[in-house]
Amino acid sequence: MTELVVTGGAGFIGSNFVRHVVRVRPQWHVTVLDKLTYAGNLANLAGLPEDRVAFVRGDVADADVVDGVVGAADAVVHFAAESHNDNSLRDPRPFVDTNLVGTFTLLEAVRRHGVRFHHISTDEVYGDLALDAPARFTEHTPYNPSSPYSSTKAGSDLLVRAWVRSFNVQATISNCSNNYGPYQYVEKFIPRQITNVLSGIRPKLYGAGLNVRDWIHTEDHSSAVVEILEHGRIGQTYLIGADGEQNNLTVVRMILELMGRDPDDFEHVNDRPGHDRRYAIDSTKLQEELGWQPRYTNFREGLKATIDWYTAHRDWWEPVKAQVEATYAKAGQ
Ligand code: NAD
Ligand code: DAU
Repeated sequence: MTELVVTGGAGFIGSNFVRHVVRVRPQWHVTVLDKLTYAGNLANLAGLPEDRVAFVRGDVADADVVDGVVGAADAVVHFAAESHNDNSLRDPRPFVDTNLVGTFTLLEAVRRHGVRFHHISTDEVYGDLALDAPARFTEHTPYNPSSPYSSTKAGSDLLVRAWVRSFNVQATISNCSNNYGPYQYVEKFIPRQITNVLSGIRPKLYGAGLNVRDWIHTEDHSSAVVEILEHGRIGQTYLIGADGEQNNLTVVRMILELMGRDPDDFEHVNDRPGHDRRYAIDSTKLQEELGWQPRYTNFREGLKATIDWYTAHRDWWEPVKAQVEATYAKAGQ
């Protein structure tokens, strides 16, 4: 039996990862360590077998809690983070506390206990790309983060690299592109627009909507992380992406069309300050070295399934929708 700790396992990607692990690795037991911030929700883990998944409520920046949980683990996969760019522009402090101090606290614990560590990060650490250039991010792209969110994620990656080099911590890092799928909090682009349509609100596009994101289904992110955890080389960084580039305008129009609405029934709102233009991942290293392949590459189908999930789970998102929209409204978004 492998004892796996998943930090942030009550959030969007973390909970999808826990579900994935329970399905594909029947011999693993998972302990979720999560603070249950506004983005964490125990309902995301509902229905999982109690003998396979345990839950500890705690802050990854709390050394005592972290030490107890990590001390009993064979491996830690670290998803916990403040994850939303717009929030980081309003109040950066929690991003420093969780993304930097939290990662530092975990690194010290895995160092003390000799535990394998996998750090979940983002393509945003590389900054952005021009809209009209063919370039994509690789593991060799220099770090150039734009927002308080992405700069704290970049800092956390550098802490991991230093702990590998200085203290021989057994760690790997992955930097993934934009995820979509079920259980994503409604502040994020795709679930916000789907739940807007379901609530009779017009979808909101920042600026002209020409910014490009490289979409990957969260299931493909999960399978890549399992692969890296089991077969990745210590000290290495792997980029995770599925060749899913779309501009925001195209995505909003596709959502409206799939929901049987006029594709032009959206509105332009204030742009995000410092808005990154384009992200694009070259995942050749992961594919060639570890043989990983994405499976959910039909974006239209994945989007349709995601729309169906939000349509069937109104009770999951309706209680927080009005407050999320009220916060956006204050910024004219
Ligand atoms: P999320 O905001 O949906 O979930 C974050 C989870 O972390 C929540 O359950 C929250 O309660 C928990 N958490 C926050 N602060 C904590 C703390 N101090 N201690 C313990 N738990 C805490 O985030 P997400 O979108 O699922 O992202 C998960 C990870 O994946 C993050 O590290 C993020 O940087 C990374 N990532 C996200 C994407 C994406 O598209 N969403 C892409 C690439 C990488
Ligand atoms: O690239 C990986 C990153 O993807 C992760 O590290 C982050 O945790 C995750 O939040 C995501 O960051 P983005 O800023 O790209 O995602 P977001 O969903 O906030 O926005 C996606 C795009 O849509 C972005 O160009 C901004 C735009 N947008 C967003 C919202 C919420 C809109 O046009 N309208 C909106 O209402």
